[in-house]
Amino acid sequence: MITIAPPIAEPLDAWVIDQIIANHPDPTGDLLNVLEDLQEAHPDNYLPRTTLRAVADRMGIAASRVFSVVTFYSFFNLDPQGKHSVVVCRGTACHTRGSRHLLQCLYRESGMGGLRDEEVFTTPDGQMTVRTVACFGQCALAPVVAIDEDIHGYVTDVRLGELLKELSARES
Ligand code: FES
Repeated sequence: MITIAPPIAEPLDAWVIDQIIANHPDPTGDLLNVLEDLQEAHPDNYLPRTTLRAVADRMGIAASRVFSVVTFYSFFNLDPQGKHSVVVCRGTACHTRGSRHLLQCLYRESGMGGLRDEEVFTTPDGQMTVRTVACFGQCALAPVVAIDEDIHGYVTDVRLGELLKELSARES
């Protein structure tokens, strides 16, 4: 899986890391929550490598342990995330009803050309991170797309375009 990241990737300030660790009475036993708070604190909603190394140093635990936790749970991000999240279901029901075409539309809309093998990408303007999921458990609504955690069913390319327009209209 390859991630195309937006150009800016800033580490978290050391004092933010110290503060978040200090907020947990037993940070070593609470590593998951420490990492979750750190990710939330980052304006690009991710955990830079420098932050993970700092966490390991400050908490006196092996960097490999911190990295293995972050890579095990899919809700942790190792690359900067777009402002909005778009998740396209690639399960069988959604695939047979056109989810690959929807992904292709997203690539094109993002100015990234045709469909490639990447399952996760962030648009060059940092507005959206697109990822796929194996199944939302809503197969009767196939094809299913989630935008910022709102589930949409029976999505066509036209409907997807409308949803993206609504998203940018909310911004302005
Ligand atoms: S296959 Fe898409 S929701 Fe189940």
